[in-house]
Amino acid sequence: MANELITDGDYVLIYLDSRRTYMIKIEAGKTFHTHKGYLKLDEIIGKEYGEPIKSSLGVTFTTLKPILTDYIMKSGRNTQIVYPKDAALIVMFSGIGPGSRIVESGTGTGALTTALAHYVGSTGKVYTYELRSEFQKNAAKNLQRSKLIDNVELKSGDITMGIEEQDLDAIILDLAVPWLVIPHAFKALKPSGVLVSFSPTIDQVVRTTEALRENGFVFIETVECMMRTMQVERGKTRPQTLMTGHTGYITHARKIIMPSIQDKTATDEQELAIEENLVEEIEKS
Ligand SMILES: C[S@@+](CC[C@H](N)C(=O)[O-])C[C@H]1O[C@@H](n2cnc3c(N)ncnc32)[C@H](O)[C@@H]1O
Repeated sequence: MANELITDGDYVLIYLDSRRTYMIKIEAGKTFHTHKGYLKLDEIIGKEYGEPIKSSLGVTFTTLKPILTDYIMKSGRNTQIVYPKDAALIVMFSGIGPGSRIVESGTGTGALTTALAHYVGSTGKVYTYELRSEFQKNAAKNLQRSKLIDNVELKSGDITMGIEEQDLDAIILDLAVPWLVIPHAFKALKPSGVLVSFSPTIDQVVRTTEALRENGFVFIETVECMMRTMQVERGKTRPQTLMTGHTGYITHARKIIMPSIQDKTATDEQELAIEENLVEEIEKS
């Protein structure tokens, strides 16, 4: 099969080095200016992804096909976004896949929405609630650029007032007061459906976890993902000096049918007693 060629209107990731990449739309007759000279976009049309192109100053750039992380990192931002390292875990914990129907809030820049829309695919749907219309418009642009907008329904409104959709596979939260959404999430999720909440502060985590325990969720866990990038060079390979120290905590849980069953963490003594009982029962039998 022939390799895919770049056509007028495609988005391309122009790569100089790992710190200098640019997401641009290829438009016939236009130029793209950098501090290393300009690129004639006509010269990119008809090329294969991955091919080098020289700037007016003779500097070599490479034309890469954007992947999901590029669309997320190059989103036009008007809020803090969920970074790929956290989005990846959120997707894993949520259990979503092609065909999943999920609710998300708030939409914000739509960075996490982009990841979710990619994984639910064209047979699934992300219903994403946002309070502020200007953020929603910007998120729509980002989703159009990644061609994932058809997998998403952008909804205006305050999710703490309720969730219209029912029998959802998962609900994903990234907003200031996730604990206020938990009772609505319980009603809207399928039994055994998953709730995932991303929060920057531990105070939010505590309130969300308490709300989950009180509203029929079990298997509750909070994790933090810290990512260290390596500097790789023979004789000098080590973690890079600077790293992002903190983004947020991810809390995930599952809905059960009996809301009275609480997910209480057993103390060491309780666990020991359970184990001793089991040993006794085994010995008796
Ligand atoms: C941190 S941003 C979300 C960023 C998003 N996850 C991303 O990756 O681009 C939080 C968003 O939640 C929205 N928001 C806050 N409270 C809300 C509510 N009660 N209902 C709907 N949206 C809300 C805010 O307006 C803001 O856009």
